[in-house]
Amino acid sequence: MAIFTVVCVAAACAGDGDAVITPESTLAPDITSPTSATTPAPTPAPTTTPATTPTTPETPTTEVDEVFRSTSVGDPRYPTLGTAGIDVEHYDVALDIDPTSGRLDATVRISGTFTVATDQLSFDLDGPTVRTASVDGDEVDATVEGRDVVLHLDDVRDVGDGFVAEIAVTSRVEDGPSFGPDAGVFVSDDGLWSVNEPDGVSTWMPVNDHPTDKATWTFDITVPTDVEAVANGELDDITVSGDSTTWTWRQDDPMASYLVLLLVDDYEFVDDGEIELSSGTVSLHHVVLDGRRDDLEPYIDVTRRQLEFFDELFGPYPFDRYGLAIADSQPGLAMETQGLPLFSVADLDGSLGPLQHLLLAHELAHQWFGDAVSPATWDDIWLNEGFATYAQMLWFDEIGMSTIEREAELALRSLPDDGWPLSAPTELFGTVSYNGGAAALHALRLTIGDDDFFALLRRWVVDHDEGTATTAEFERVAEEVSGRDLGDFFDEWVDSPDGPPDEYPASATEDG
Ligand code: ARG
Ligand code: ZN
Repeated sequence: MAIFTVVCVAAACAGDGDAVITPESTLAPDITSPTSATTPAPTPAPTTTPATTPTTPETPTTEVDEVFRSTSVGDPRYPTLGTAGIDVEHYDVALDIDPTSGRLDATVRISGTFTVATDQLSFDLDGPTVRTASVDGDEVDATVEGRDVVLHLDDVRDVGDGFVAEIAVTSRVEDGPSFGPDAGVFVSDDGLWSVNEPDGVSTWMPVNDHPTDKATWTFDITVPTDVEAVANGELDDITVSGDSTTWTWRQDDPMASYLVLLLVDDYEFVDDGEIELSSGTVSLHHVVLDGRRDDLEPYIDVTRRQLEFFDELFGPYPFDRYGLAIADSQPGLAMETQGLPLFSVADLDGSLGPLQHLLLAHELAHQWFGDAVSPATWDDIWLNEGFATYAQMLWFDEIGMSTIEREAELALRSLPDDGWPLSAPTELFGTVSYNGGAAALHALRLTIGDDDFFALLRRWVVDHDEGTATTAEFERVAEEVSGRDLGDFFDEWVDSPDGPPDEYPASATEDG
């Protein structure tokens, strides 16, 4: 057998190896050129699966049919993100952070499996300086290529081979106005906070930064002893060593990289015991800025009531812990970081009005819609934001703060004329994704009836838990659950470039 070099084209490489080579494809603008001495120069791109022409490499170290080189999964909206051809199983993240200077050292051990034959490993990395890189214990050459760091292996690894890459990088968290349009880590008065959706993690550590590759995570965060460090999962260990302390957090449920939480500041940890849900026992752990414990009080009770309400409506709460993290972060911004969503202390300030109910319901609902089931591409963002927005409207209805009819009508009236279709909105976090998504769900509920609608939501989570899904898959499951052809409905409410109809359809459910 011969080595045949195939430039990996995104999604095609993630599949069964039957790569369709379309270099001009808009799916994958970020493709590396083969340069390895052990592989022949690429032949002009064929339009079908290449035959394994008998080329004779000089010194083949491994014999495989094709060598793929991918630096992207081919997300249409974020074409540089992710890497096809690897499946990361675990990230072991060691951070050393000095909040005063903003220096952030990250040493990341990434374990996974090759899903294609390749002689390189690529991770998203946008900004930090690479200090060292190794694969399976051997130092390797690492080159920064655009928004990727590429590790060059000296032989070809085969499908199914495991790898352990370790990369050490340094970056500096920018001072100044804390939050712009970008995601990443930001400074506050006494610490750092982060919002990483959609591509923030790669601005401070190497990562396969796309929801299609979920993994488990460990974080060892070393900070000065006078502050606390927080990440997702269970607080496993606190090790004090002189004037620095290492906080170890373990996230054992698969998690997409955009759901990583990283906080450093003066925090108190508040345990609120356990709650019995249909999923079993869920433990409640909140994190609040030091001295703001009393302000947390009203949200502790609301959170328990919301957990019970959504667990009943959407099916079993998907994780075994939950809590609120209230930080000195951007007002008006919240983030559904897995198991421990982030809120600003300016919003959760101790009062309990519509804004607080809305934010708490929205980020909790994301644990099902976003965290358990994540978008397969960023164009599918309404599967996160539309669902969480509809959930917040359901909560308002539940507590009598409004009715679902009124909320749905307001959502429909709020929609802009442009920015459509819902299935690929112009703005990731705009009115189209949030209110347009909620309006589409309400219209779907009216079309298929309450029983099928809520059965569909539950089925959606069961089918795609710990994974990702597309809008087309949602349509398919909706048709299956309701037993109807919903082609016209999705054309009108989800895929129309002009936006949805002006009115909701008539209700299929007698009496609402
Ligand atoms: N997913 C968050 C929410 O709706 C919003 C995140 C906004 N991210 C950003 N980079 N602006 O709860
Ligand atoms: Zn949201």
